[in-house]
Amino acid sequence: MSLSREQMLVEMGITPIWVLRDTASEASPVVPEMAISEPVATASSTVEKPIPVATKPMAATPQASASHALINAMDWPALTKQVAECRACPLCQQRKQAVFGVGDENPDWLFIGEGPGADEDAQGEPFVGQAGKLLDSMLASLDIARGDRVYIANAVKCRPPGNRTPESAEMAACWPYLERQIALLKPKIIVLLGKAAVHAVLHDDKSLASLRGQRFEHAGIPVVVTYHPAYLLRNLPDKAKAWEDLLFARRTLREQATPELPF
Ligand code: URA
Repeated sequence: MSLSREQMLVEMGITPIWVLRDTASEASPVVPEMAISEPVATASSTVEKPIPVATKPMAATPQASASHALINAMDWPALTKQVAECRACPLCQQRKQAVFGVGDENPDWLFIGEGPGADEDAQGEPFVGQAGKLLDSMLASLDIARGDRVYIANAVKCRPPGNRTPESAEMAACWPYLERQIALLKPKIIVLLGKAAVHAVLHDDKSLASLRGQRFEHAGIPVVVTYHPAYLLRNLPDKAKAWEDLLFARRTLREQATPELPF
């Protein structure tokens, strides 16, 4: 059964339904009272998990630089094969399979999460568990769907044991793959879901709260930041903020598609 966009917004926990506008007033959406029937988040679940990181990308070894250069020259099938066989970091030891990504290979949107969990490791597709359901609702609220103008990937391609946050070195080892995916996909906008994705792409370790609502860039592509769906499942009131972020992302995408004329 396919749900209407309104039903999807309800699913996201955002009711009454927000009216999507194409005008500048969308810039400061009025956040209505949210009707949230699920339990209120506990104090221990109100902050995103910290990532043990350095704030700059790790210095590459000569070997790493050489393989980075090789990866930079790969086409999509070669990259897919390389990722499936990757042994660049210890995460390969316990994975069932590497999870490359899923979706439209000519996308407008690229959503980047943290890393595969148990379900993703088993099925070989990102965001197929509970967080994935919420991500699908978030996509539906934008009138887009997995596989249609959207690609979904992760900061790391192999499941961190026990679903822990990937370490800085693991994200650094996986970055050349994600970087090449971005270069080949050429999305019009990148949405970073949570701190790990922010760390992987922007090499920034500030709080999400301080990064939301800003337009960053990677390789000339606009990048915006929002909360990870798994975090939103534990912190329901922040769904409204995520919705603001998605509207901001959509405006940014539209500005990108139709830049203002220089006169
Ligand atoms: N969380 C993520 O960040 N990625 C997935 O693929 C699944 C859950």
